[in-house]
Amino acid sequence: MIKQAIIPLAGLGTRLLPLTSVMPKELLPINGKPGLEYILDECISSGITEIIFIISNKKKIIKKYFYNDLFFKKIIKKKPNDKRIKNEFLKIKKLKKMIKFVYQNNPRGTGDAILKCEKHIKSNYFMILLPDDLIFKKNCSKEMIKIHKKYNSSVIASMKVEKKNVSRWGIFKLTKFNRDNFYINDVVEKPMINNAPSNYAVIGRYILSKKIFKILKKIKPKKNNELHITDAIRKLILNKDKFIGHVFSGKYLDCGTMKGYINSSIEISKL
Ligand code: G1P
Repeated sequence: MIKQAIIPLAGLGTRLLPLTSVMPKELLPINGKPGLEYILDECISSGITEIIFIISNKKKIIKKYFYNDLFFKKIIKKKPNDKRIKNEFLKIKKLKKMIKFVYQNNPRGTGDAILKCEKHIKSNYFMILLPDDLIFKKNCSKEMIKIHKKYNSSVIASMKVEKKNVSRWGIFKLTKFNRDNFYINDVVEKPMINNAPSNYAVIGRYILSKKIFKILKKIKPKKNNELHITDAIRKLILNKDKFIGHVFSGKYLDCGTMKGYINSSIEISKL
């Protein structure tokens, strides 16, 4: 059973400057609620019970958001009839019990961040959710957990993107075996249009096996001295590990860029 999820939150959020110069992008409100809470909602309703947040000293305020009990208690004492505040506090307290914090103080990439969680992972498989990628209407994690159970494989979420945009994403080389699922034969991180093996993109939901840690320890950092999770996944695929790509049916919103972030508030308010 997949019960643990990792959410990497140590990134600098430069695509959302100046908003992120004082505020972590994951706490920026999207239609009145921090983006991160949408990700947590997805995790919890898919059956995940333990969540590991990777933060940094610069982003300690994310921990504070969940550990501000004294502040809430004071306010609730002053306003005992305010049900909304009470309920919000109860929700945050419930979430807090499920969250562990791990630190990545140097921005050495998602691969390095994931490696820092090794000792916390108990089962053979775990989930990773990238907080820039919001998916609504259908629970993508839940769909992926079902596929993992059926095929006993690693699973990565995917979406068809326009050919002209392939260099924004990890791109799969694939063999389709039914309408929504394919075998992943390879994955290339942010290829040029001419080198893209398809236009099926990697979206930030992964079910990976513990074997990834061993590989992450062996591979070398690349661009910007970062360890890329995609490189470790490639190695596993090369070693004949089974990886399935799942074309999810929910509505995707990219809130990691300024244009996408602005658009996501508008789209969510329409749901
Ligand atoms: C990361 C992954 C990329 C994936 C994308 C999905 O890129 O490296 O393969 O397509 O997330 O959002 P980033 O958004 O961190 O540049």
